[in-house]
Amino acid sequence: MSASLIQLVDIPQRGDARGQLSVAELGGVLPFAVRRAYWIHGTKPGVSRGFHAHRQLRQLCVCVAGSVRISLFDGAREESVMLATATQGLLIGPGLWREMHDFSPDCVLMVFADAEYAESDYIRDREQFIKHAQA
Ligand code: TYD
Repeated sequence: MSASLIQLVDIPQRGDARGQLSVAELGGVLPFAVRRAYWIHGTKPGVSRGFHAHRQLRQLCVCVAGSVRISLFDGAREESVMLATATQGLLIGPGLWREMHDFSPDCVLMVFADAEYAESDYIRDREQFIKHAQA
């Protein structure tokens, strides 16, 4: 049985009596230097997002508020995970088809990436992705 597609990492906690503080840094929970961060929020009811893979991009996703379900597909297997805590992150490497479903209305999904936005890095067609994954 090969390794799980779902790579969850515990984010170091530096909270104290005042409240919580979570840290993502290079050499800690981040296996890459961040060149871009974005966050998905205000997602309308019933909306799913994603439906693409990246050729090279590596990402760390942290659901800092609310909850969302993320599914990953490597061309053969699909696995999914519910993200519902600011103290865990999901690492997504290249070559994985991702979908995001079941956003709670208050969901804020932070994404840290190792490269700037490039449309040429996307594979947006599922059949093309499956061919790419099997190549
Ligand atoms: P996309 O990655 O397709 O969103 P999702 O997979 O969550 O549905 O991005 C949506 C749009 O935003 C698309 O037109 C590309 C643009 N975009 C940027 O310009 N920069 C970025 O960093 C990201 C993530 C998206």
